[in-house]
Order: sequence, then structure tokens, then C-alpha cells
Amino acid sequence: MPSSLVVLGSSNTDMIIQLERLPRPGETLLGGNFTTAAGGKGANQAVAAARAGGAVTFVARIGRDIFGDQALAGFQRDRLNTDYVFRDPTAPSGVALIFVARDGSNSIAVAGGANARLSPADVRKAKPAITRAAALVLQLETPLATVQAAAQLAARAGVPVILNPAPAQALPDTLLQAVHLLTPNETEAETLTGVKVTDDASAARAARQLLARGVRGVILTLGARGAWVTTPELSRRVPTFRVKPVDTTAAGDVFNGALAVAFSEGRPLLECVRFANAAAALSVTRLGAQPSAPTRPQIERLLGGTRG
Ligand code: RIB
Repeated sequence: MPSSLVVLGSSNTDMIIQLERLPRPGETLLGGNFTTAAGGKGANQAVAAARAGGAVTFVARIGRDIFGDQALAGFQRDRLNTDYVFRDPTAPSGVALIFVARDGSNSIAVAGGANARLSPADVRKAKPAITRAAALVLQLETPLATVQAAAQLAARAGVPVILNPAPAQALPDTLLQAVHLLTPNETEAETLTGVKVTDDASAARAARQLLARGVRGVILTLGARGAWVTTPELSRRVPTFRVKPVDTTAAGDVFNGALAVAFSEGRPLLECVRFANAAAALSVTRLGAQPSAPTRPQIERLLGGTRG
């Protein structure tokens, strides 16, 4: 029986140009390949979780436009429960413009559109799914008041909240206190704590600070160096798999989706992080956000086992 997860967050259509390197301000670079792909941090995490083996309900707002139609069709292909994907009559679907450089790095600009209208009232509509979930997964590409409403609803119902604090912004302690697992990258950890994360010692320092502010566990993603895990019981780095990066877009989203699945299956935390590392490593070898999310058999193959 797959674990039942709720992911609440954004959905975008990504317009991607692959270039030798990222353009500088004021510069025009020629010679790029153009492609579109389904994206948005929330949708990426929902799709990644479904492919990793979760039964996923997605809570989101998309426009009544062709991008919204395409996004919805994609969610259905990935067997997400879309009962709480609302079609907004007044705002367009979210769009992201993404440059991807040859070394796999990227820069992203988002026009949130309908994502910015996902409201606490939408959270209340999704209450039956949220309060029965094995875990709730959140990010910060939708309004903070909505994220807070969802986190508090879940926490009151005893549902563990996994918050991926991306894109980076300062957060109130009232939100952090409702969070079971916080999953920042280095930049997001620095925004939240003021600690510049450059090595294991600074990762541990930032994570301890976040624990002191009320989260129960911190999984600080470190790109090619893996992830730093801190709970009251443990503090250590989990290395990741070595791969040749093509596009790092959504690696964090795939990590979070896979992490949520393993966590909701009740696996030990370090095993969850290994599973998530494997999923994220596979994702950076492929172009695009949702197209890069691996299936469970692919993740298990990289892990070298046959579980699940
Ligand atoms: O995390 C990657 C995502 O950020 C992209 O899919 C883009 O849509 C933005 O939301």
C-alpha cells in the first residue's frame, strides 16, 4: 500500500534555454537550445514523490489556460490526486524562465500567476486530505500565510510537516515550530540563520540553530557533497552518488519528493536521505524539472538494492 502524501505548492511551465554559460546582466548570448517542461517546486515534488512510490494528493492553483490544461494532464499521467488542484478564473498559470549552463548550473525567474492566489481558504478545502496524510510537504513558492495555515492544520492533526524553505526567505518561529523536517540548501540555510554554509562544521552550526528555533530535524542539502542531517540524536553528513550533471534544476525538488516517500514509509532517517540522494543524483543527469524525476525502480537500481 503506497504511503499517502499531500504536497501543497506551486505549478509552473518552465521555458528553458541551454547555453554554454549563464548570461551576465545586459548581455545577449546566442546559440541556445530551447525547450519547455513541466515545473514549479510544488508540482515537481508531487510528481517526484509519485514516481518514487507515494500516493500523492497535490494542492495547488493553476490558470484556466493552455499551460494549466497541460499541467493538469501531466499530473493525471503521474496519477496524482488532483481533487484540490483549483483552476483560477482570474490569474494565468505560473511560468518560469530558466537558463541552464553546460556545467548544469542554472538561473531561474518566476512569474507566479495563480500560484500567488493559493489561499488559506484553499487549505481549508483540502483539510480532509491534509489531516489524514502520512506527511505534508511544503515549499515557499506560494503565499507564506497559506504555507503557515497548512503547516498548522497538519501539526494540530499530528501529521508530520516537511518544509523545503525554497526560494529562500526569512521565516517566523511559529512556522518552524510546526515543522518536523526542514530541508534547506546552503543558501536557504544562510538566509534562515546568518551562518554561511561552506563545510560540515558550518552546516552543523546552521542546523543546530534551526533545531533551537523549533524544527525537529534538519536535512541541509549540499549539492554534490550530499546532505547534512541533524536531529536531537544525530549530526552527520550523508554523501551522495557521483554523476555527470546535465541540469541541476529541480534536484532539490526531487530530493524532497523522494525523501517524503521514504519518511512516510517509516524508514530510518539516514536511509530516507540515502534514498533521496539517489533520486536527486539521477535527476541532475537529465534535462528539465519534472522530466528528470526518476521512477522507484530506477532509484532502487542506483541504490543497488531491490526493496519496495
Ligand atoms: O526548483 C525548480 C523549479 O523552480 C522550476 O521547475 C521552476 O518552475 C521554479 O519553480
